[in-house]
Amino acid sequence: MKDWFYDETSQVGVDYGDKAEADVYDERMERFRNYAQEARTFVEKLNFPDLSRITAIDIGCGTGAFAVHAAKYLKQVHAVDVSGEMLRIARSKAEGMGVSNIHFHQAGYLDFTAPKPVEVINTKWALHHLPDYWKQAALLRMNQMLKPGGVLLITDWVFLFDPDFERAMDEVVTEMSRNFSQDFVREAKGHLREEFSTFDWVLRGMIERAGFEIEHADLEVPLAAEYVCRKV
Ligand SMILES: C[S@@+](CC[C@H](N)C(=O)[O-])C[C@H]1O[C@@H](n2cnc3c(N)ncnc32)[C@H](O)[C@@H]1O
Repeated sequence: MKDWFYDETSQVGVDYGDKAEADVYDERMERFRNYAQEARTFVEKLNFPDLSRITAIDIGCGTGAFAVHAAKYLKQVHAVDVSGEMLRIARSKAEGMGVSNIHFHQAGYLDFTAPKPVEVINTKWALHHLPDYWKQAALLRMNQMLKPGGVLLITDWVFLFDPDFERAMDEVVTEMSRNFSQDFVREAKGHLREEFSTFDWVLRGMIERAGFEIEHADLEVPLAAEYVCRKV
């Protein structure tokens, strides 16, 4: 590997490579997320006539929030994550649920290569782990792994432009404190300090430059965004 290449195996912010972090992930998330419902909503959104012919890749799959549940509807899922600890939990969940059409890969945005082009890529709460230059590289690589007309769904934290940046972020943190646990807010502050979320307008520019059309974007919760993108 070139000596200027980004080392994506080294985690930023929360260390998802750590067993203790991986072990508490689902308990923390499932206080406000319903993984099965998220996967159902996602496959409905895809609007493909025959889901049983679809192969999906989930990059930054974590403990299998999407991969394990979506596999029930799809032909095959490639679940990709740099963390062996997160994959360990995802694997054991799939086994426990009798889901066998998932292939697990310990790899990342910058080195995973799909065996064949696929119809769908999902990446949720993970792209912000890469700095912007490498987000663009990741988006270009994801475009190459999709069939023509394939769909990329990105869910992530993004920023909106506000010249009064300190007040704007104080408001976001206050709003979070009203709606989420202290644990969550502490983690969100760490995210702001240490991780690489970018602006909505920057991410849109990167998505388009990587060869996608953004069919739909949602920015309902403060900072959380979802982009449904189609390979053009
Ligand atoms: C906040 S978790 C999200 C997990 C899952 N997508 C979900 O919705 O719950 C972020 C995940 O991204 C993974 N990750 C971080 N950098 C990555 C990279 N460069 N390539 C692939 N996965 C990465 C972490 O190991 C972690 O499992």
